[in-house]
Amino acid sequence: MVARQLRLTPAQVYGAITFYSEFRTTPPPETLVSWCSGPACLVRGSLNVRAAMEAVLGVGMGESTPDNSVGFHLGQCNGACDLAPLVWLNGRARGPLSVADAVRLARELKEGQGSGVKGQRKLS
Ligand code: FES
Repeated sequence: MVARQLRLTPAQVYGAITFYSEFRTTPPPETLVSWCSGPACLVRGSLNVRAAMEAVLGVGMGESTPDNSVGFHLGQCNGACDLAPLVWLNGRARGPLSVADAVRLARELKEGQGSGVKGQRKLS
């Protein structure tokens, strides 16, 4: 339907949808966790944060929990490097995270308590 409305081929629409992270073909998760893959976060241990969160949430990069309450996606540096390593929770920076912090945060999110976590900064 989108391709017809835009007078494009379905392949062109699919290509755009799957290229830009702002588009999706499934409903967004209730809480989107964006893991920062930027250089400051990497040198400060974000790979360990990622591994801890994936293990506790039971999802890999780009996946959501079966009930779609939490999605874990790749993020980019958004200029909050002073909080590295960090994740964004629905657009709010949360960091710096130790591995223990990441485990705690993932458990809170899994239990549905993560939205009110203190230490968040809203980025515009
Ligand atoms: S590198 Fe992660 S916020 Fe800049």
